[in-house]
Amino acid sequence: MNFKEVLGIDFGGSGIKGAPVDTKSGKLLDERHRIPTPDPSSPKQVAKAIKELVKHFKWEGPVGCGFPAVVQNGVVRTAANIDKSWINTDARKLLKDTLKLPVWIINDADAAGLAEVRLGAGAGFKGAIVVLTIGTGIGSSLFIKGKLYPNTELGHVEFKGMDAEVYASDATRKKENLDWEAWGKRLNEYLSHIEFLCWPEMIILGGGASKKLDLFKDQLNLKAKIVPAKFLNEAGIIGAAMAAKVNIKKH
Ligand code: BGC
Repeated sequence: MNFKEVLGIDFGGSGIKGAPVDTKSGKLLDERHRIPTPDPSSPKQVAKAIKELVKHFKWEGPVGCGFPAVVQNGVVRTAANIDKSWINTDARKLLKDTLKLPVWIINDADAAGLAEVRLGAGAGFKGAIVVLTIGTGIGSSLFIKGKLYPNTELGHVEFKGMDAEVYASDATRKKENLDWEAWGKRLNEYLSHIEFLCWPEMIILGGGASKKLDLFKDQLNLKAKIVPAKFLNEAGIIGAAMAAKVNIKKH
């Protein structure tokens, strides 16, 4: 199968976003479209919303979709911020059957990481990189020489007796009404812990909060180079499309 353009989709805690992507350049080929994440975010409801996105773009080609969960060979293994009935659902089969199109599924932070490391803020950097997406949860991806180690889930390391994402996610900033300084301090504590665990040379910050780095960068004090995601919160869409491009051929 030879193709360059893929419909990239990012299934997040609050919205399901998509756009056709040129997987070579990472450029979006049309304006991004967003559908609010259905409640409950069950497999049936989410598949319906994704079908709507496909219809919106009148898309007939391959689809890559990032999920906010551990994904092994198309099967969803965890569900921190989505309906629990996803656990052990074969998402690739569900979407292939619903859309009647070739589909690839990947963890959302792994997708964002691929876009950033191959084409974005980490392009050309050969050292160890951690990409963190800070939104409803905290997603992570780990790279060395541009190669991904998937499903690292560093948002769920235990920190101060709780799940780290409960302490430092953007959703927590909003829920607890923290100002940027107070939240930036929390983020710095969390990032210091990540630094202590795996010593990346570069940390790329993505997700909703990446657009606001200027407001909290003064609170960050780390050895690693801290950079905002080049594709901001579009990295997930672009990387999901890139993963589909590489993997659909092989399977
Ligand atoms: C999930 C991860 C996901 C992250 C960001 C976490 O709660 O466990 O798989 O990457 O949220 O969406």
